[in-house]
Amino acid sequence: MKTQVAIIGAGPSGLLLSQRLHLAGVETVVLERHSRDHVLSRIRAGVLEQGLADMLRAAGVGDRMDAEGEIHDGCEIAFEDNRLRIDFAELTGGKTVMVYGQTEVTRDLYKARDAMGGTIIHNAENVALHDVDSDSPYVTYEKDGETHRLDCEFIAGCDGFHGPSRKAIPADRLKVFEKVYPFGWLGILSETPPVSEELIYSGHPRGFALCSLRSRVLSRYYVQVPADEKVDNWSDDRFWEELKSRLPSDVAADLVTGPSIEKSIAPLRSFVAEPLRYGRMFLVGDAGHIVPPTGAKGLNLAASDVFYLSNALIDYYRADDETGIEHYAEKALRRIWLAERFSWWMTTLLHKFDEEAFDVRVKRAELDHLVHSRAAQTALAENYVGLPYD
Ligand code: PHB
Repeated sequence: MKTQVAIIGAGPSGLLLSQRLHLAGVETVVLERHSRDHVLSRIRAGVLEQGLADMLRAAGVGDRMDAEGEIHDGCEIAFEDNRLRIDFAELTGGKTVMVYGQTEVTRDLYKARDAMGGTIIHNAENVALHDVDSDSPYVTYEKDGETHRLDCEFIAGCDGFHGPSRKAIPADRLKVFEKVYPFGWLGILSETPPVSEELIYSGHPRGFALCSLRSRVLSRYYVQVPADEKVDNWSDDRFWEELKSRLPSDVAADLVTGPSIEKSIAPLRSFVAEPLRYGRMFLVGDAGHIVPPTGAKGLNLAASDVFYLSNALIDYYRADDETGIEHYAEKALRRIWLAERFSWWMTTLLHKFDEEAFDVRVKRAELDHLVHSRAAQTALAENYVGLPYD
């Protein structure tokens, strides 16, 4: 088989890239290791920056998001019994975020790819990249016991942190920057009305907690737990009690509890691989970088990578212009590092670490500054709604 751009991974970034390229007349084939059902069973964050929401609309996949998603023009930062509202719209000249689950974005993208006759090959095992630093790279994979070969002109690695694409860069060319946090997030999904219409990020001496939502009848809550914690140690009752203990008392009093329909622990990590390009292969999203979920930047950063890369490839095919390709890594990395900084800052500010008393006082002062400084609130808001794509 032959195509122009081989895309590895049918998560939201691989599918959005494929959709944008297809709309511009560039051919793609998407290879995915798992089944479609598996891809659609993954529960991820649900906060979309305006840049991503606009890209989905432009790609013809914004209708359900606009009908069912919720626009949020603020969020709350809580610490012990204090609550601070960050008014995104007022602080950023009208910018907001869209609350709509990543799983739903992926579902909408699948539907759009199907409607346009896009090729997505599922259950493609042992995907391997070859000759990526030549003019004729190719990808091999196994399916139904047979080995297949996909010839292409470019490869987009949208295959997540554990995928094969990053490993195709020789070790002596790859530089990795990493911070592993000594905790994870235990999250539950429950069919209960959310405690608040807006997200509440809560820093507490017992640890961080987050109140989020998917809809008026579906809530998503998280509590910080040690990195080696086991889900089995957490009954629903224990989870609700711990969550309540970390929220301001008026919020805790309003919390509606119920059985969880999903419960899992995710580790927290900051990670960047440089460069994001090797020859004719480009890393996109989690394949090249990870942010801790505080700040909800993971999907949004993958989206800005898709924006830069799709535009670069379209310029190449339409106008024989290689400038975008030459500058993809540099452009994407600049925005990635800004989001790494923000996610690290928000994580550090709101989580409990094994810290010295001095650091605890500095964090308290930082929250004090945030409460009293419009400039500090503006800095949070402009990062949260998403920095420009430039
Ligand atoms: C979520 O709803 O799952 C969510 C929201 C905001 C975050 C992280 C996760 O920062």
